Formats: sequence, structure tokens, C-alpha cells
Amino acid sequence: MPSRPLPAAPDYSSSASRASGPTSAARSAAAAGVALALDRVFVRLGGSRAALCDASLEIRPGEQVAVIGPSGAGKTTLLSVLGAALAPSDGRVRIDGTDPWQLGSRGLRRLRTRLFLAPQTPPLAPRQRVVTAVLAGRLPTWSLLQAVASLVRPGDAALAADALARFSLADKLWSRVDRLSGGERQRVSLARGWVSSAGGFLIDEPLSALDPTLAGMTLQALRRTSAERGATLVCSLHQVELALAHFPRVIGLRDGSVMFDRDVKSVTPDDIARLYFNRDAAAPDVTDEVADGSPVQAGGPSRCF
Ligand SMILES: Nc1ncnc2c1ncn2[C@@H]1O[C@H](COP(=O)(O)OP(=O)(O)OP(=O)(O)O)[C@@H](O)[C@H]1O
Ligand SMILES: [Mg+2]
Repeated sequence: MPSRPLPAAPDYSSSASRASGPTSAARSAAAAGVALALDRVFVRLGGSRAALCDASLEIRPGEQVAVIGPSGAGKTTLLSVLGAALAPSDGRVRIDGTDPWQLGSRGLRRLRTRLFLAPQTPPLAPRQRVVTAVLAGRLPTWSLLQAVASLVRPGDAALAADALARFSLADKLWSRVDRLSGGERQRVSLARGWVSSAGGFLIDEPLSALDPTLAGMTLQALRRTSAERGATLVCSLHQVELALAHFPRVIGLRDGSVMFDRDVKSVTPDDIARLYFNRDAAAPDVTDEVADGSPVQAGGPSRCF
């Protein structure tokens, strides 16, 4: 039950209201999207097969990309590597042209503030109010004093309300996190991303707890929010139809390998069938070809084990 009055709903129609105020200024300062690149990346997590195997890709600033593939394909691993949360076992990662793993700890921390990595199960403190959970997205830009003060009294409730409204959650501003449904928690995490100063959103299965209507609305909100600030958006999804309907570029992962990476207009039903069906078949082989005739990326399948 709300214990404090809700701030007035933001006026999205007014560009002046978006352009004014320190929080808006801080957001626009982060408008440039992040460039992401992997060059022959392998990630070995101790399983029988590499979680990522010889993955190469380039994502330009401001691009919007869906990552699809069966369970265990390596989607979460890919997002973690792109977000500099997980170091590759082999190969190179570049974030805005910089190899994060060549940086010192301070440089790595600074680079990570350029990215917002949203796990499928958001790490939200259960007893926290939603407003505080959302504003935690600004933590990397705050001093210690501001961070502690925010725990006592949320500093910019209007900003949190604005972010929540984008994800149809404005009425939950003063609710406690542990009184939210799973889908509401997921959207609180996305609202946290919006208030952050990130130029890249790496979102892991944001729709798993949402009904079909909310799922479509949430993807639209994510895309609009990213586009407004020119941020790069990479989103892993199990909902193939939604990935194909909402994203201009789709990467198909299977068994840690990139099966295809192309403009959504040229993704074929055959691509999808090869990605998901015949699960018991051997992992993609170096002789496999994608629909455009080029070989599946592979540095030799044996290196995947
Ligand atoms: N901590 C770990 N230790 C060992 N193996 C792991 C670990 N985390 C993931 N894996 C393995 O790495 C592979 C890729 O896992 P990942 O979580 O990236 O897949 P995913 O595509 O995100 O799957 P899902 O759709 O189920 O979330 C899987 O085979 C998984 O079992
Ligand atoms: Mg996953």
C-alpha cells in the first residue's frame, strides 16, 4: 500500500520537461551508444562444452539486437562477456574499442558504468521500496554520501516515477519490492536501467514472467528508451516471434556458437528450425552452412570441447 503520495505523472509531450533538470542533463550526457565487439571468443566454464565457442560479432553504437537460441545455447554467457562481467578464456572483447581485461580495476569499473547488464532474475533487495530500487541505477554516478542519503530518503522520486511509467508500473513507486510479482520485479530492473547513465543495455530474458500483452509493450518501451538516448540494446529472448517482430538484427546461438547473425528480414524459417530443432543432433559442425552459403563460424569444433 502506498505510504506516500505519488509524484505528478511526467509530461512526455513536453521536450522542455525532458531537457531540463540535472537528471535529464546527466542522462543526455550518456547519450552515445556503446560499440561492442567479440573476436573469436571462447568461454569455458568447466562444463563438457565451451559455453561460448569461437564467437565473433560487432555491434555498432545504437544498434538494437536480439539474441535467440535454445536453453544452454550461451545467451547469458554472451551478455556477461559483452558487459565485461565475465572474462573470456580466449579471444578479445572490445567495448568502445577498449579491451576491458587490459584495464586496471578503476578503469574497468568506469567502463562498466557505460553498460547496464540486467540479469533474468534481478538482484533487488526484498525489503526495499521500488523507488529506491529504481534509483539505485544511478549509484555509479553518486558519491558515497548521496548513496547513503538515498537509502534514507529517495532523492529524485520523479525520475523513478518517469522510469516506472515507461514500463507501466507508475503505481508501484512506493511499494516494497517483496510485494511485487516476478514480472513486476523484472520491469523494476528495466526501469533501473533507464535511470542509469548507461550507453548500452544488455538485457537477459526480460519477458520470462510477462503475459503476451505486457511482453510486447515492454519490448517497445525498451526499444524506445534505448533509441531516445542512442544507446545500444542487446536483448536475449526465448520468444522467437517477438524477437523477429521487434528487432532489426537477430543473432542465433546454439551450443555456444553463432549459427547466424543477420538483418531480421533475411532470417528464414529454416534458420529457426536449425537453431531449435533436432536438439539431439551433433553440435554445429564446421561443414555446416547458413542460408547465405557462408560457413558457420567455427575455429574447429573440437576447440569447443
Ligand atoms: N557456472 C557455470 N559452470 C559451468 N557451466 C556453466 C555455468 N554457467 C553456465 N554454464 C553452461 O554454459 C552453457 C551456456 O549457459 P548459458 O547460461 O549462457 O545459456 P543460456 O542460453 O543463457 O540458457 P537459458 O536460455 O537456459 O538461460 C550451458 O551449457 C550451461 O550449462
Ligand atoms: Mg540464460
